[in-house]
Amino acid sequence: MNQDELKRAAAVTALESIESGMALGLGTGSTVRHLVDLLGDSLTAGRLTDIVGVPTSIQTERQARALNIPLAELDDYSRLDLTIDGADEVSPELDLIKGLGAALLREKMVAQASDRLIIISDDSKLVDRLGRKAPLPVEVVDWALGAQASFLAGTGAEVVLRVSDEGSPIHSDNGNVFLDCHYAAGIPDPVALARTLAYRAGIVDTGLFLGMADMAIIASADGIRTMTRGA
Ligand code: A5P
Repeated sequence: MNQDELKRAAAVTALESIESGMALGLGTGSTVRHLVDLLGDSLTAGRLTDIVGVPTSIQTERQARALNIPLAELDDYSRLDLTIDGADEVSPELDLIKGLGAALLREKMVAQASDRLIIISDDSKLVDRLGRKAPLPVEVVDWALGAQASFLAGTGAEVVLRVSDEGSPIHSDNGNVFLDCHYAAGIPDPVALARTLAYRAGIVDTGLFLGMADMAIIASADGIRTMTRGA
C-alpha cells in the first residue's frame, strides 16, 4: 500500500468509532479527508444517522458541505462526543505535533471540547521524541514577527516563516501566520516548552498537543496498530 492508501486504511478503522447521534469534531488534512469521505458515504447509505460535524478548518467545512454532512459551530455544543484528526508527529506517550496543515488553533479548540480525541495516521508520523522529524508550528499574530522569531530562536529553534510557493506568508483561518520551529535534536521537554510559549504575548498557540489524544490508529504495511493512552 502507498502512503495515501495507509491513510485511508486508518480512516476506515476510525469510522468504526463513530456512532449515530454523535456530535463529531472533524479534523483537517489529507488523512482526515478520507474520513470525511467515508462519513459522507455512510450517511448517504443510511449506515449512520443523526450526525453533526464541527469542522476545524474552512477546507474541511467545504468538503463536508459538498458531501451533505450536517454541520454546526463549536458554539452550538457544550461538549462533542468525539474528534478524529490527523497529526504530524505521534510520540510513544501519544503526545503530538500538529499544525503543518495550518489549522492547529481550531483543531485544539475542538479537541479540548471533545470527550475523546482519536488520531489517524500512517506510520511515518511515529517518533521517539517530538520534534525529531517535523518542525513545531507556532501560530503568531501578524505583527512584530522579527521579535517573535528572536524569542523562539532563544528556545533553541531554527525559525522559519511559513510561506506559499509564491513567497507570501501563509495565513491561518484566523488571520495569523506561522513560525515553524526546527529543533535539531527534537524537543527534550515538551511540557516546559509549551509552558514557556503559552506565556509569550503574540503567540496565539502552538502545535504541541500534550495529554490530549486518547487513541492513535496507525496504519503501516504490517496492518493497523492501535495505541491507547495509558496502555
Ligand atoms: C493540520 O493543521 C494538521 O494538524 C494536520 O492534522 C496534520 O498536518 C496531518 O495532516 P495529514 O493528514 O495531511 O498528514
